[in-house]
Amino acid sequence: MKNISILIAFLTLGVLSAQEKSIEQRIDSVMSLMTLQEKIGQMNQVNGRSAITGPNTYEPEFEKIIKKGMLGSVLNASGVDYTRTLQKLAVEETRLGIPLLFGYDVIHGWKTIFPIPLAESASWDLEAIEKGARIAAIEASAAGQHWTFAPMVDIARDSRWGRIMEGAGEDPYLGSKIAAARVHGFQGNDLSANNTIAACAKHFAAYGAAEGGRDYNTVDVSERTLRDIYLPPFKAALDAGVQTFMSGFNEISGVPATGNKFLLDQILRKEWGFDGFVVSDANSVAEMINHGFTENEYEATKLAVNAGCDMDMSSLSYYNELKKAIHAGDVPMVKVNNSVRRILRVKFKLGLFDDPFKYCDNKREKEMILSKEHKDIARDAARKSFVLLKNEKQILPLNKEIKKIAVIGPLADSKRDMIAGWKAKGEPKDVITLLDGLKNSVARKSEVLYAKGCEIEGDNKSKFGKAIEIAKKSDVIVLAIGEGFGMSAENRNRADINIPGVQVELAKELSKLNKPIVVVLFNGRPLTMPWISENVPSILEAWFPGVQAGNALADVIFGNYNPSGKLPVSFPIHVGQTPMYYNYKNTGRPIREDSFNWQTKYLDVPNRPYYPFGFGLSYTTFQYSDLILSKKGVGFDEEFEVRVKLKNTGKYDGSEVAQLYVRDLFGSVTRPVKELKGFEKVFLKAGEEKVVTFKLISDDFRFHNIDMDFVAEPGEFKVFVGGNSNNVIETDFFLVK
Ligand code: GLC
Repeated sequence: MKNISILIAFLTLGVLSAQEKSIEQRIDSVMSLMTLQEKIGQMNQVNGRSAITGPNTYEPEFEKIIKKGMLGSVLNASGVDYTRTLQKLAVEETRLGIPLLFGYDVIHGWKTIFPIPLAESASWDLEAIEKGARIAAIEASAAGQHWTFAPMVDIARDSRWGRIMEGAGEDPYLGSKIAAARVHGFQGNDLSANNTIAACAKHFAAYGAAEGGRDYNTVDVSERTLRDIYLPPFKAALDAGVQTFMSGFNEISGVPATGNKFLLDQILRKEWGFDGFVVSDANSVAEMINHGFTENEYEATKLAVNAGCDMDMSSLSYYNELKKAIHAGDVPMVKVNNSVRRILRVKFKLGLFDDPFKYCDNKREKEMILSKEHKDIARDAARKSFVLLKNEKQILPLNKEIKKIAVIGPLADSKRDMIAGWKAKGEPKDVITLLDGLKNSVARKSEVLYAKGCEIEGDNKSKFGKAIEIAKKSDVIVLAIGEGFGMSAENRNRADINIPGVQVELAKELSKLNKPIVVVLFNGRPLTMPWISENVPSILEAWFPGVQAGNALADVIFGNYNPSGKLPVSFPIHVGQTPMYYNYKNTGRPIREDSFNWQTKYLDVPNRPYYPFGFGLSYTTFQYSDLILSKKGVGFDEEFEVRVKLKNTGKYDGSEVAQLYVRDLFGSVTRPVKELKGFEKVFLKAGEEKVVTFKLISDDFRFHNIDMDFVAEPGEFKVFVGGNSNNVIETDFFLVK
């Protein structure tokens, strides 16, 4: 090391040892030494050379900025060697040697890519979801990362929105549970360990409510909708200990999130007491100029810092303008000190001041990444994420001894598509495709024939013939269709959410052969597929399953694993129904079956979804009965139980996600027709029956009432329990003052 920096010497040789001093005392020590320039530096983040994830202003000479002590963090710098090189510049060549923070989009895995987050959410298996984040953190930290820009916790009700693939779907309760699981997975129990990383709840807030499902578009939601629908997963992430938040690109009712004092200060700091730091989304400080919220970077800097945005991701506005704003008195020094303190706090918690190179271990990087153990865990996560949408005549599971299987479709042997749009350092070469998986699993004497049939997009039908030819020779057709990886994720929105190209036409031609057909669907969002749903006897929703796609699919297709996934999003019949969600309001003229007029409905499409929120079949069947409550009249703060009998009435062992919904029939404001308030994933052997018990208390029914108080109100409630949001048995109770 060229010279031990003043800071490290000061901290380690100080009166108290570094360990004895509290983090706050150590932050005080560091801040007492910092110049204004060095403080501004901590609030500045630039893009490294390992990836570009947006229109970031790219600073080619950013190493020089590091040496000036003017950089606090680098995103998109991966690998132990590269991060070590940059860290050495900060620690050894600057006056104080404050370590850099390296951040990356570790969304569903680092190298061992897991199913996309929407798919993992379809497992409703919080333990499995936490484990997936844990493996991602182990691998990312082994490659020098300190911080992930995940979990994305944006509620998504519009299937046109490309980033619906990145979150946990449409429901605040499920989304909250999953947000907490992901934060725990990334951050583990000890943030100072070298295999845990800081997490980031994003995009604060209501980014998924972009009008028209068009990324970055205007968001205009009421404060009540913001607080009751979009904020709960963020609060759950905060309660789980998330260390950072990211402000979204979007405005909310006229105020961009990155300069939104109500969001970043009133809610996040004053109401929620958050003590971590807020990073802007890429360039979103400067993009407030495009929003027309401010005229220049100076004003943008002033608005963002004063609102509570602690770190500027890649727009360089703080780097260029903050010193002037402070000297002009437009940004109080207390704001800067607060931001710097929050950023240093995370660096101390990660242990970076004790050992800035603790994440730079080449041996770990070699051993920990894409290990067999990690791949097995990814395979299990993928199995659990699949949703069986249809299985007439019980075509699935297939017999491994089957003579000939025709595997057809543009996604049957596509490695790149399986790791989807946020693949971090995942590589197609590491992917097991559906074709690979089926070949790995069938009996030796069985034959697997393959034909692509068509591309994902375009109108070329020239390969139909080859596909039909091999289908004619086979006993069953497995047809792999859906979206390409580039049709969802950031800025990948679709106005039409049909299965693209001529894939459905290929399915129609194949169905004329009157052979058993199984469609395996690959997609990053709900799709509208009326012909497939009506005419194909078996449909398995596979999303984008990650590196172990084929092995996991073979496990399910051949019955080694009985599918148990449930949809975390509603699948519309027609895109014209979006935004679509199960927890809608009843309105003054609700739909009725007994008459035609004066109801909230379309002339040409029903109101209902094709597949409802919470839907998913199994190779077995389950029956719900004997729904009883421990009390019918329940007092405030009085816990009561909801019990239901659940029986496996089929011939396969399997897991069922029993879901509990409530309806608050009357309120000081209108209330949704259903709200998820509990779920239990229950394994039952064939013929086995169990009593599933849910515990509820009045706090579970809180909402923002007519006075915007977060309270439960007395009155009549319904309780629904079932295997999805539509197919339920019900009873009722009264909440009494
Ligand atoms: C992107 C995304 C955000 C991501 C960031 C860094 O534009 O909106 O989710 O974490 O930039 O890549």
